[in-house]
Amino acid sequence: MCGIIAAVAKCNITKILLQGLLRLEYRGYDSAGLAIVDKHGNVKRLRCLGKVKNLIKKTEKENLMGVIGLAHTRWATHGIPSEINAHPHISEYIFVVHNGIIENHEQLRKKLISYGYYFTSETDTEVIAHLLHLKQKQQGGSLLEVVLKTIPQIRGSFGMVIMDSRNPSILVAVRVGNPLVIGCGTGENFVASDQLALLPLVNSFIHLEEGDIAEISQNKISIFNIRGKIVNRDLIKSNISHDITSKGIYNHYMQKEIYEQPIAIKNTLIGRCTNKEIDFSELGVNIGIFLKKVKHIQIVACGTSYNSGMVSRYWFESLAKIPCDVEIASEFRYRTLQVRKNSLLIALSQSGETADTLAALRLSKRLNYIGSLAICNVLCSSIVRESDLYLITKSGVEIGVASTKTFSTQLTVLLMLVIKLGSLNGMQLELQHNIIKAIKMLPHRIEQVLTKDKLIKAIAKDFFDKNHALFIGRGDHYPIAMEGALKLKEISYIHAEAYAAGELKHGPLALIDNKMPVIVIAPNNKLLKKLKYNIEEVRTRGGLLYIFTNQDIGFKNNEYNMKIIQLPYVESVTAPIFYTIPLQLLSYYVALIKCRNIDQPRNLAKSVTVE
Ligand code: M6R
Repeated sequence: MCGIIAAVAKCNITKILLQGLLRLEYRGYDSAGLAIVDKHGNVKRLRCLGKVKNLIKKTEKENLMGVIGLAHTRWATHGIPSEINAHPHISEYIFVVHNGIIENHEQLRKKLISYGYYFTSETDTEVIAHLLHLKQKQQGGSLLEVVLKTIPQIRGSFGMVIMDSRNPSILVAVRVGNPLVIGCGTGENFVASDQLALLPLVNSFIHLEEGDIAEISQNKISIFNIRGKIVNRDLIKSNISHDITSKGIYNHYMQKEIYEQPIAIKNTLIGRCTNKEIDFSELGVNIGIFLKKVKHIQIVACGTSYNSGMVSRYWFESLAKIPCDVEIASEFRYRTLQVRKNSLLIALSQSGETADTLAALRLSKRLNYIGSLAICNVLCSSIVRESDLYLITKSGVEIGVASTKTFSTQLTVLLMLVIKLGSLNGMQLELQHNIIKAIKMLPHRIEQVLTKDKLIKAIAKDFFDKNHALFIGRGDHYPIAMEGALKLKEISYIHAEAYAAGELKHGPLALIDNKMPVIVIAPNNKLLKKLKYNIEEVRTRGGLLYIFTNQDIGFKNNEYNMKIIQLPYVESVTAPIFYTIPLQLLSYYVALIKCRNIDQPRNLAKSVTVE
């Protein structure tokens, strides 16, 4: 949600801020803005509705020069996307960019109005600017002192950077609930909501921790806790290259990330999957003893991560014989929970910053869980840092808003965990070895299914004029239907729903007519026979069937209203991962022919750091 970049340097920072915003745009893209101050305190603020490119156009008309400044790309929470609601927000000389939500903004707004403050936007952020200004007027002091005195009055979650244009040498950054990272240079320093924005500039980073307040100048960074006591934070050297954010030969990040899945899975397996066993020694020497105690698994996650948790439930229960529940984090966090004995909480998240998943993890700490395990793609994320244990999916940076490669690598890690827990729970050696063999074959199987790209592209044309679609599957492929439907709606804006195929007759069959596409995930497994009855139910009612299968299912391509997408062989256990790939391609090509903004679909952001 929202992207922040700020800089204090000797040179003109306009380009740095704009380039940083472009790299952050995947986090929010409904409006953008920046404020820059030159050495003499002359300040310029520019804002615009829409994408960063609009802001760049605006800056081209001005000769912007400045050594300190803040910039922001917004994903609206309070106040519609508009120029007046775009950040930075100001109160005379106080400038603020903010990511998060101020929960008591209405109450603060009333108070500030009674003091004579006039609001120009509908945002909660403007409240912060005026509040800081008021505190400054009433009590004086440096920007840092004013911030320290003001923070206790603000409730909610916020990552923010503040600047006082009268003192164009200091930035103050605050992290309460929303991540911020400082990029440390020589004679210049930066702050951003995501390390990605700073990769071309520096390779040393300080990740602010909860409640940290940093005072940043060209040559000095001081970090304090909420009570104003100085704290030490590690300086982390990064070897991530900024090239990782290039699209290479692909047209979109999503396309690139779909094609990166074989290598992402290979990387996720390295060092963890030998021919005979799963090696999770990265979890500590006593991990075997700990995992042996686990008698129940509770997964919490959102969106695509939730879907991968749903797949793993079938695996945990059928293969490792461990009961498993999966819940949407935003529900879990507000429910009265009855925790099972020896239950391990797994927080699944690509970003590691999803607010609801993080809150669910924090809640679990106050309950009787045996421990928490994060399965996450970002090592320095909040969810990883706050979990007892973590396993990183080695997908590399995922930029497309639609999760693709992180779904398949999450499933890869989960399946390894199934084997590990299974081996401690009496799983037959032969079964363990067969699953390991299947996982090791997976990158190759995915390369093979990717060769169906053109076929799927051709089928996508059928969806050009469609407004609805149903996805059906059974067993561990029901969550794959859910994932297929989520991908399609997310990037093509076609309304799509998933059903466990056996449920059709309990309502959804009423939707079937010759305009309704029904996408069937039909792998060769023990439920195929049952699934064929469900196909028949749709066929006899004239529905448009698109059947993804690697079996002769007894129907011919183009017979009735039926298209069969014949896929290569895959082992049963890894079939859910394999079958996801053609569905990702289908969504991608449908969105392409509908001319959607594939990497930045409307109303969405990559990392959902607000509730
Ligand atoms: O970073 P997370 O995995 O925690 O994100 C959860 C969801 O916001 C995310 O999976 C979302 O549903 C994706 N955009 C779907 O493609």
